[in-house]
Amino acid sequence: MQLKHPELVDLLKQAYSAEKAAAFAYQGHAAAVKNIEEKKAIQQIEIDEWNHRDEVLAIMKQYNVPISKYYEFRFHVVGKIISFSCHVIGWFMPFYFAGRLESGNVCEYFRMKQFFNSLGIKEHDAILYEMGIKEKEHEVYFLNQIKDNKMLPFFEKLFSWGGRKSLNNIDLEKKYPVEQSDSYCKK
Ligand SMILES: [Fe+2]
Ligand SMILES: [Fe+2]
Repeated sequence: MQLKHPELVDLLKQAYSAEKAAAFAYQGHAAAVKNIEEKKAIQQIEIDEWNHRDEVLAIMKQYNVPISKYYEFRFHVVGKIISFSCHVIGWFMPFYFAGRLESGNVCEYFRMKQFFNSLGIKEHDAILYEMGIKEKEHEVYFLNQIKDNKMLPFFEKLFSWGGRKSLNNIDLEKKYPVEQSDSYCKK
């Protein structure tokens, strides 16, 4: 079956490649931190991102969506640059920008779910929901690491993400089940 939804097709291709960028970035991030607990947590997040990439690919295959060579190249370069930069920009910024990035990624999966649902396809709901929630957990992890840092208020003002501002409307403390998650990331 072919997907008649150009926006969804593009989102799938982009997410597939962006997960690689994220995984590369976390390799650099994990290597750059000295604290063992932090290193382990970031390595686990890297594994989560590789798993997401596999899950997205499985969906793409089902609808004969090809991997984008352009996105693969672009996100490869982006991931490697971020990975390297983690060694030179200090401790705070890699945590901050990882959290901000994750905050945006949450809605990618909920938007995919909405797009599939608009085509009458419900079979990917559970996995897309699970991936969106996992990105939210990543966001919360990174935020918790920096929430008491004195640089956070300044960065929050500048980049519109932090303790008060999130780029999504999911609250892990009061989580909706998958069947009631339509209000997540509604524009
Ligand atoms: Fe991911
Ligand atoms: Fe993530």
